[in-house]
Amino acid sequence: MTPVSTPAFYVTTPIYYVNGDPHIGHAYTTIACDVLARFKRLDGFRVHFLTGTDEHGQKVAKSAAERGIEPIAFCDEVSALFRNLAQALGSTNDDFIRTTEQRHVESCQELWRRLEANGHIYLDKYVGWYSVRDETFFDEGELTAGPDGTRLAPTGAPVEWVEEESYFFKLSAWQDKLLELYDSNPDFIGPKSRFNEVRSFVAGGLRDLSISRTTFSWGIPVPGNDRHIMYVWIDALTNYITGLGFPKEGEAFKTFWPESHHIIGKEIIRHHCVYWPAFLMGAGLPVPKRVFAHGWWTAEGDKMSKSLGNVIDPYEMIERYGLDQLRYFLLREVPFGNDGDFSQTAMGQRTNGELANEFGNLAQRFLSFIAKNLGGVLPEPGALNEDDNALLSACHLLLDQCRDAINQQAFHSALDAIWLVVRGANVYVDKQAPWTLRKTDPARMNTVLYVLAEATRHLAILMQPYVPSAMAKLLDQLGVAEDQRSFAFLGEAHALKGGITLPAPQGVFPRYMPGPGQEAK
Ligand code: MSP
Repeated sequence: MTPVSTPAFYVTTPIYYVNGDPHIGHAYTTIACDVLARFKRLDGFRVHFLTGTDEHGQKVAKSAAERGIEPIAFCDEVSALFRNLAQALGSTNDDFIRTTEQRHVESCQELWRRLEANGHIYLDKYVGWYSVRDETFFDEGELTAGPDGTRLAPTGAPVEWVEEESYFFKLSAWQDKLLELYDSNPDFIGPKSRFNEVRSFVAGGLRDLSISRTTFSWGIPVPGNDRHIMYVWIDALTNYITGLGFPKEGEAFKTFWPESHHIIGKEIIRHHCVYWPAFLMGAGLPVPKRVFAHGWWTAEGDKMSKSLGNVIDPYEMIERYGLDQLRYFLLREVPFGNDGDFSQTAMGQRTNGELANEFGNLAQRFLSFIAKNLGGVLPEPGALNEDDNALLSACHLLLDQCRDAINQQAFHSALDAIWLVVRGANVYVDKQAPWTLRKTDPARMNTVLYVLAEATRHLAILMQPYVPSAMAKLLDQLGVAEDQRSFAFLGEAHALKGGITLPAPQGVFPRYMPGPGQEAK
C-alpha cells in the first residue's frame, strides 16, 4: 500500500468537445499530460490523471441534429473516439470522464446550489453576442468585422445575437479577489506571458457572466428551474472536481485537489483562469494549483481546418513514424507554451537524426559490441578517469534538471538537458574508441563499455515518460529489472553490476523510411 505521506499530483487535460473528430491538437495535450503523469509517478508521486469529453451545449446539439440522431447517441459515438485515441497514444489516464454521466450532473448541480446559496447567482436577461463555435459570450468591443457586415469573435468564429432570460454569475464582484489570487500566486498561470494576459484582462474590469440558456435543452438542468440548462462552460469546468468525487469531499478530493494542474490550449485560458477560480471561490472551494496554457499547432504552415483538408490525424502519424516518435516530436519540436508548426520534414528529421542516430545508435553500438566481443556479459569497470567521471556526473545531475523543467511544464527543456548528455556520450564513445582499446588496452575497454551502459541506464530511465515503449525495451537490454526503473534508482547507489549477462541487443528506434507517396512535402 502507498504510504500516506506520498506526495500527490493531479493533472487534467481539457475535456474535448464531441462535435468533431479527434486530431493532433487533442493528441498534443493528452500526450503532454501523460508525460507529466508518468514523470511524477516515476518520481514517487501518487498521481491522478483525468481526461474525458465535454458533451453538452449548443454546438454538440447542432452536430447531432445534422446527423439526425439523438444527442446522447451522437455523444456515445464520438466520446468513444476520444477514449480510443487516449489509449492509442499510450495515455495512462486513471479515469475518463463524460459530462453526460450521472456523477457529473450531481456535481454540477451541487456547485450551482452552493453558488446560489452564497448569493452569487441572479436571474436577468442576456442581450448580446454569442459564438456557438467557442461556446462563449463576447462583448461588442471584442468583435471584428466579418464578411457582408457580419461580426466575428476574436477567434474568427461567427457570433450570433442572443436575447434570452438567463441566470448570471456575479463575476464583476470577483475582480479584486482574482487579482489578489494572481499576485499572491505567481505560479498560478504559466507561461508568464499568459499570466500577464489574464491579469490585465481582469484588471480591465469584469462583467457578470450569463450561466444558463433557455433556447435549447441539451445540458444539465438548473436546480429548481428546469426551463434553464447550465451554460456549457460551468458544466465543463466542473468535470475537474467531479473526477475527484465531488460533491463528496472525501479522500480523493482532499488528496488531489490541492495539487491540481490543468493543462490546456491557449484559447481557453480565460475560462480556466478567470471564470473557474471565481466559481470555486464563490462556492467556498479551493482554487486549482496551476493552469498552464500551451500554444497551437499549424500544419505545414497553415491553420488546420476541415475545409482546407489539412487536419493532421494522429493515427496516421503513429502508423507512419511510430508512437514514441510522435510523442517525442510533439514535445521536442516546440517549447511548450509556444505555437508550432507540424511538418513532416521536421518529424522525419527528429525521428532519424535524434532518436535513431543519436540515441538509438549510441545504445546499439556498445550493446552489440558487448554481445559480439564479450559474450553479452557486462564488464566490470576499472578505475574511472576524468572523462568517465564527467559523463557520469552529467548523468547524475540530470534528475534535478529534469525535475525543475517538468515542474514548469518545460518539457522541451528537460529534453534539451537529456540531449546534451546523449551528445556528450556520443563524443565520449568516439574519443574513447573501445573498438581500438580491445587490442591495446582491454581493461580500459571494459571501463568504457561499463560507463556507457551506466550512462545509458540514466538516459533510459529519464526518457521513459516521453518514449515509454522504446525505453522499456532498452532497459530490458541493459538488464534493469522492471521494479528498478523509477527515479529512486538513479545515481551511483543503484549502478549496474558488472558481470551480468545482457539479453541480445535489438534496435529501439527504427529509422523512418518514407513509403511511396510519403516523401516530405
Ligand atoms: N470542451 C472545451 C474544453 C473544456 S475544458 C473544461 C474545448 N474542447 S476542444 O475539443 O475544442 O479542445 C480544445 C483543446 O484541444 C485545446 O485547449 C487544446 O488542448 C487542444 N487543441 C485543439 N486544437 C489544437 C491545435 N491546433 N494545437 C494545439 N492544441 C489544440 O475547448
